[in-house]
Order: sequence, then C-alpha cells, then structure tokens
Amino acid sequence: MAITYLVLASGRGSNFEAIAKAVRDGVLSNTKILQLVSNEETAPVLEKARRFQIPSSVIAPPFRKDFHEDLFDLVETVNPNYLLLAGFMRILKGKILQTFKNRILNIHPSLLPEFKGLAAVEQALAAKAKRTGCTVHLVTEGVDEGPILHQKELAILPTDTEETLKNRLLPLEHACFIETLKKMETQAFRVQNSKVVWE
Ligand code: GRF
Repeated sequence: MAITYLVLASGRGSNFEAIAKAVRDGVLSNTKILQLVSNEETAPVLEKARRFQIPSSVIAPPFRKDFHEDLFDLVETVNPNYLLLAGFMRILKGKILQTFKNRILNIHPSLLPEFKGLAAVEQALAAKAKRTGCTVHLVTEGVDEGPILHQKELAILPTDTEETLKNRLLPLEHACFIETLKKMETQAFRVQNSKVVWE
C-alpha cells in the first residue's frame, strides 16, 4: 500500500510540483499525494495541484472555528500517513503536532541547525558562510528544530547573490525532498534521543 501524504504550501509550490512530478513519473512508485492544502487563496501552488489533478483546499478567513482547528478537521478527514510542509508559511501548533508526532516533514533552506527561521539564505550570506544547503526534518514545537531526516550541501561562491544562491538551492531542495520520500518507501524510521534512526 502506498504511503499517503497531505501537502501544505503557501506560495509558488516548486517543491510540491517536483514531488507531484516524481509521483506521476514513477520515481516515487509507492507514494501518493492525497491532497494539497494552502492557507493562501491566490497561491500559485493551487494551479499546480489542478494541473496534476490533485485535490486541493484553502483554509483562509472566514474560518469555521479557527485556522488550526479547521486544518485539524480537514487532516482528520483526509487521514494521510504524513503531512509535508513545502513552503508553508504558518507555524503549526496544538493537537496536530501531537496527533502527527514524528509524521510532519518540513523543508528548510539551510543546513540546520544553522540559520533557522525566516530568510535562511540571507542569513547564510550575511554570516559569510562558505557553505549552506537544505534540510528535510520532522516538525516539533521548536521552529526548525526537529530531528533531521536528510540534508544536501552546497558551496557558497564568492560571487553568489541572494538570487543566484536561491536559484542554485532550489533544485537541491527538490532532490532532498524526493530522496527522503524515496527512502521512506522502503525504510521506516524512528526517533530516539531527538535523532532519526533509519531501521
Ligand atoms: C523553499 O525555499 C522552502 O525551503 C521554504 O520556502 C520555499 C518554498 O518554495 N520553506 P516553493 O513554494 O516550494 O517553490
């Protein structure tokens, strides 16, 4: 049986698109995206979901209860194995974190624990770091602090600007996400002492 995911995204959706393509093309052969959820009515990612014929929904004001409760209700109805945060710009809190403990994955554009939070690429450049990268990690209450599933590294060139670095990082993010999901097709993991242990 395929591993099922609900993807949450707020904007452009290039990570969502890369994963949806990998599923469509059989690169991820035991993975299914059940639904895309956005918190932005006009997010370009919604059009991408339509193109891949993946059901989508928007959770935006006016809420039935509030954002977190509405999201929880939707997630309970869809009932995926995992949640994937792919450029999702809200911080999850409350019972979704408990119910989906160690089952929420996020992509972050740095080698965590370096450069947590917003503007990670700008932070790396400002720190004159020689390298950066991206991280797929499990979501916990501490923002960008959860156990790490996979990382990919990239050298920062002396000529790099925010734009060139972001452009070079993006395909790495896509590969990082897809490689993680591919590994999950054949290997389970558990979390021990805040670290991911692959079985
Ligand atoms: C990516 O850089 C991701 O790491 C960050 O938000 C961006 C989303 O890009 N969390 P996209 O919407 O997937 O194109």
